[in-house]
Amino acid sequence: MPITIAITGKGGTGKTLLAALLVRALTENGHEPVLAVDADSAVSLPCALGLPVNRTVSDLRISIAEDPAFRKQMMERHVRDVIGEIVTRGPGFDLLVMGRSEGPGCYCAVNDLLRYGIEALVSRYRVVVIDGEAGPEQVNRRVLSGIDTLLVVTDTSARSARTAELIRGIAAGMAPSRVGVVVNRLRGGEVEAQGVAVRAGISLLGWIPEDDLVRTFDAEDRPLIGLPESAPCVAAARAVLRRLVVR
Ligand SMILES: Nc1ncnc2c1ncn2[C@@H]1O[C@H](COP(=O)(O)OP(=O)(O)O)[C@@H](O)[C@H]1O
Ligand SMILES: [Mg+2]
Repeated sequence: MPITIAITGKGGTGKTLLAALLVRALTENGHEPVLAVDADSAVSLPCALGLPVNRTVSDLRISIAEDPAFRKQMMERHVRDVIGEIVTRGPGFDLLVMGRSEGPGCYCAVNDLLRYGIEALVSRYRVVVIDGEAGPEQVNRRVLSGIDTLLVVTDTSARSARTAELIRGIAAGMAPSRVGVVVNRLRGGEVEAQGVAVRAGISLLGWIPEDDLVRTFDAEDRPLIGLPESAPCVAAARAVLRRLVVR
């Protein structure tokens, strides 16, 4: 069975950085094929992975809503094949992008189609890494149902720890086999990370230090997946993966 890891947490805490680094660590450790899913309407994972955005789940939904011929075609095909066609191929991993929620109809419809898409595609991969939308909404709406591991990212601020705590509460009804917190932008050591985890009421799965190389890559608009081995956050993400005990 493939392993599905969903990354959630408050906006700006480092979900996309962690997603990109986990995808990298997974492919380097031979866990291919990996499916990376950008489930955030802000669409930033493609850039972090150094891939272009092709068609998104949202584009697909707009076509279904607005184009009767396309809709008819869709009905005659398996959702797996249709979604499979909008996946972008990368080195050792594929990428599925949810996209923005503009267009007709409500936002949950895009989320629903995304969920069907992930469910339909999951058997093709060994590991699925989902970079989620900020906040608890997707957990709440069961977009992330059926996942094995929920990674909640927080920085050291009390506000993001409160969001983490909120997500943990909602996830309790979802029964992922594991919920863990990753403390990002840490300036102290393990003791500080433990303190944040205790505050959020979630077991500590790892921590990522504040990393100047991330800032440099951000400033130069370079894909974070290409950070050098010497970047402290690269080793930190590998340590998170080891704790996930990915088979
Ligand atoms: N450990 C870190 N060190 C330095 N900058 C970081 C670190 N983690 C995240 N950032 C930066 O903070 C910003 C938000 O991170 P991002 O991964 O996009 O968060 P999210 O996906 O949760 O919104 C980005 O500019 C990112 O590069
Ligand atoms: Mg993000």
